[in-house]
Amino acid sequence: KIKEAIRAASASNQEQLEAYRMQFISKKSVVGELFAEMRNIPNEHKKAFGQVVNEVKELAETKFKELIEHVSSATKQSKSAAIDLTLPPSNIAVGGIHPLTATRQRIIEIFERIGFNLSEGPEIEDDWHNFTALNFPENHPAREMQDTFFLEKNPDIALRTHTSSVQVRVMENQKPPIRTLSPGRVYRNEAISARAHCIFHQVEGLYVDKNVGFADLKNTLYHFAKEMFGKETKVRFRPSFFPFTEPSAEIDISCHLCGGKGCNVCKGTGWVEIGGSGMVDPNVLENCGIDSKEYTGFAFGMGIERIAMLKYQIKDLRLFTENDVRFLQQFRSLI
Ligand code: PHE
Repeated sequence: KIKEAIRAASASNQEQLEAYRMQFISKKSVVGELFAEMRNIPNEHKKAFGQVVNEVKELAETKFKELIEHVSSATKQSKSAAIDLTLPPSNIAVGGIHPLTATRQRIIEIFERIGFNLSEGPEIEDDWHNFTALNFPENHPAREMQDTFFLEKNPDIALRTHTSSVQVRVMENQKPPIRTLSPGRVYRNEAISARAHCIFHQVEGLYVDKNVGFADLKNTLYHFAKEMFGKETKVRFRPSFFPFTEPSAEIDISCHLCGGKGCNVCKGTGWVEIGGSGMVDPNVLENCGIDSKEYTGFAFGMGIERIAMLKYQIKDLRLFTENDVRFLQQFRSLI
């Protein structure tokens, strides 16, 4: 009977194997009990009984080995069946382009197509390049227009407050005609809010050549605004003051969000300021070794964050630096 039971036993997983072991192999199994029974068998029958029990034991062990084999090959098979090499790969999460990077790239593209090259300068700047060469008189209140992070006083070393410092470096090292665009990070000691940050990005444009006039500045920025925000975009120049340009003008564009009808972003005015501009002050040209009787130029500086906010309808500047994936994921398609 036991032999029959052994022959009939099957196992297709580890639990069933263990059940078999308990039933036929272990000390407490039926086979183990048969061995224990030996001592109750009268001597003359011991030999015959022992023979039978040994047969049963061997049978049980051989079967156990078979079952182990069977179970292990079955699990191997099911594992390899779980790997289907014909399936398409699962998606690997890839990052996207940061909206500020995308905006900067787009600005660069627009200006490169009309002949501007790219220039860069250091973020840690000296007084000359950030202020003095740009016609900021010493101790002049104009310096306070841009709350500066100083790293060292006398000589003044600071985090640059604008990328206009790069235009000084370019003019010092190149002869006109100069048509250059300098995007970069700038720093100002300002409280962080939805509209301001102590670290932000600007792109400065500079064009110096013979006979460059205010009309060239206007046309260039009209072109930019229409390329960036669409054909229907309007540009407005408001008289302003910068030490390094004369005349100077603030650049407003018609609000991209409400189409100029008035919304929170333009505060109902229909216009949003995106930067400053003007004709390069002759003093600046002279400071950089360019003859102001022969050459004139225009310059403009715009905030990349502001442009990105308008373009992608972002209402809070802090989102750019908080690295919240829920925000960043929305720009995946910009790749
Ligand atoms: N540098 C100015 C600023 O950061 C912007 C500007 C650039 C204005 C060039 C005029 C010409 O506010």
